[in-house]
Amino acid sequence: MGTKATRILLMEDNPGDARLIREMLVKAEGYDFDITWVTRLSQGLESLSRGDADVVLLDLGLPDSRGLDTFVQAYAHSPSMPFVILTGLADETIALTAVGLGAQDYLVKGDMADGTLLIKSVRYAMERKRVEEALNAERQKLKESQENLRWLASKLITAQEQERQRISRELHDELGQNLCLLKFRVKEIQKELGEGNPALGENCQEVLAQLDQVVESVRRLSYDLSPPELKAVGLSGALQALFRDFRRHNHQDVQILRLDDLDTFLSREDQINIFRIFQESLTNISKHAQATRITVEIKREGNRASLMIADNGKGFSTEQNYTDAERHGIGLASMDERVRMLGGSLTVESKKNKGTKITFEIPLRNA
Ligand SMILES: Nc1ncnc2c1ncn2[C@@H]1O[C@H](COP(=O)(O)OP(=O)(O)OP(=O)(O)O)[C@@H](O)[C@H]1O
Ligand SMILES: [Mg+2]
Repeated sequence: MGTKATRILLMEDNPGDARLIREMLVKAEGYDFDITWVTRLSQGLESLSRGDADVVLLDLGLPDSRGLDTFVQAYAHSPSMPFVILTGLADETIALTAVGLGAQDYLVKGDMADGTLLIKSVRYAMERKRVEEALNAERQKLKESQENLRWLASKLITAQEQERQRISRELHDELGQNLCLLKFRVKEIQKELGEGNPALGENCQEVLAQLDQVVESVRRLSYDLSPPELKAVGLSGALQALFRDFRRHNHQDVQILRLDDLDTFLSREDQINIFRIFQESLTNISKHAQATRITVEIKREGNRASLMIADNGKGFSTEQNYTDAERHGIGLASMDERVRMLGGSLTVESKKNKGTKITFEIPLRNA
């Protein structure tokens, strides 16, 4: 025949039932079954350990185990094995429970007039288990690749943060210093030559004013890249400065309902992540929301903190996943990732013309 025999492990303590089942299987035309018969669960488990079976026919009432526990033990031993439960009329409910727990099928012994039902059940059990296992393997692969992606995203955020700090330092120390030096030189020229040449003096004054603007731009750029307040005045201070700055530049009211001090409960990385989340939220509000009022709340409750920022602007449809590449923006997706890095999860609620509310809850250390 060439095809390999299907190895059936029959765990059945009643010799009459066992003989009947064997006969049904042996007589089945067109099938090649290789049957191993054991009467105790312990023998069955040994056989399973040797990898002797493709499918198990399991009677729940064995000398060394009774009822659902028989299946629970066998399934825990070999979770990737297809099991068909054999039961008497009275045990149908237990058999159904076993199916709910992972058995493929059950057969009531008295109902098996000939082998048709039994063989169908054996084949069906094997095929279903094969599909189930393949699906599980795919799910596992998907989970692993999602974990990889998440790992990569958090690495990227950390690397981006380090790069921002480096550029910020460079701008402040290198470019900032050179600009100050330049100002000093222009002032010297103005002093030396400006008196005898009023036009040149005026020009120098203009250059100095332009230089002041450039210095201010560099300062702002450097500040945006790496908020120095975080080091000096901690997260609360940095956030207050951020909201103050936003009011001044956007002429929009930022109402602070509550701003608890979380500094001592968070690492510097965590503080940066929170700062960035509020920074991106405000940027989104000024870019997209056309809001007139913004509300902020940061509450510490025991060893957790809940944080919220809401606007009364035009809102947007959240039906499309914000991690969807179609959206193009990376602001919400990176906010989501930062909240994950903080050990929480982000909720975005938004409705057209009803504003947007962003909330997240995070655990606090040493609280
Ligand atoms: N507060 C808000 N009010 C209205 N719409 C918003 C708000 N926040 C986000 N959106 C909408 O969600 C989209 C995605 O925001 P996200 O921050 O991810 O990207 P972006 O701001 O467009 O670009 P990026 O942040 O990468 O510069 C925005 O394009 C905008 O349509
Ligand atoms: Mg954005």
